[in-house]
Amino acid sequence: MEMKSLKIGNIKLKNPLLLAPMVDVTDLPYRLICRKAGASLAYTEMLYISQILHTNKKTQELMKTSSLDKPVGLQITGNSIEEFKKVIPHLKPFDLVDINCGCPSLRITGNQAGSYLLKNPNKIASMIKILKTSNIPVTAKIRLGFKTNNVLKVAKIIEKAGADAITIHARLAIQGRSIPADWNEIKKVRKSIGIPIIGNGDIFNGKDAEKMLDIADGVMLARSAIGDPLIFTRILKYLKTKKEPEFNFNNNIKQFQSYIKLSKKYNLIDIQRIKYLGSNFIKNTRNASSLRNIFMKLKTFDEIQDFVDNLEN
Ligand SMILES: Cc1cc2nc3c(=O)[nH]c(=O)nc-3n(C[C@H](O)[C@H](O)[C@H](O)COP(=O)(O)O)c2cc1C
Repeated sequence: MEMKSLKIGNIKLKNPLLLAPMVDVTDLPYRLICRKAGASLAYTEMLYISQILHTNKKTQELMKTSSLDKPVGLQITGNSIEEFKKVIPHLKPFDLVDINCGCPSLRITGNQAGSYLLKNPNKIASMIKILKTSNIPVTAKIRLGFKTNNVLKVAKIIEKAGADAITIHARLAIQGRSIPADWNEIKKVRKSIGIPIIGNGDIFNGKDAEKMLDIADGVMLARSAIGDPLIFTRILKYLKTKKEPEFNFNNNIKQFQSYIKLSKKYNLIDIQRIKYLGSNFIKNTRNASSLRNIFMKLKTFDEIQDFVDNLEN
């Protein structure tokens, strides 16, 4: 299969595989290892816009990027148009900005942000217009709707407002992961929209990615990339060869080691995050449960580093 080329605004991506924004996952070190494995674009985790405006140490850490972390998108959500105006100067280190219109968490929808915005697409349009004054590409990540499907209407309004791409997570906000993503809806939107559509939801291997690329211009991976950055390498290989490469535990542990090294290098050590990612890195091995038990009991960064360094032997 000829690799699709994907361009978002002025950003030409080297392939159509994107790393999804994920809270507690996609910090700078994690983005860097996913890029090395093949991801062409990566995003920060979702940041609530007022968090950015009242910068604290944690937010600064989550916004940390580097010259190797390119192209990178900042993902934000919020409900106040005024705050969207104020955020413009903070966009400087980023190549694009994405509005989260999909988060179903009550903490966010209770503030009329995240997926709540799907109820009022004109507000999303206003946010896009303001962000466009920053001169970087603006994208929106949406779901099929909040309680009812209005994806086509929302996508049209977003396109008209000047957005450069739309990512569609093909579920309603009220739908949990047990309900399969409905890719047919992405297909319908693709037919009536001119800007790039990135398909998201339930892509776990090369075949899934290939099917999504038949429908959409790009694919975005979330869960399948947690603790397995090499999913990008395997999918890229599949797209070339039509063969699904095997998962390799030792290679995956090397990825975990790189993550630990980069966390140290960039002074972004978050033990809870390392524990969460680590348990995912470890889960695909033969004696995963006993290794995981030992790992989860470790307390300090040095203990974790020792454990991870010895995993291969
Ligand atoms: C741990 C976790 C954190 C997430 N955080 C975000 C986020 O910050 N912003 C966002 O737009 N979506 C977030 N999502 C949703 C994913 O980006 C994605 O839309 C969803 O998981 C479906 O894709 P998948 O089937 O590849 O997992 C998160 C998902 C997971 C599992």
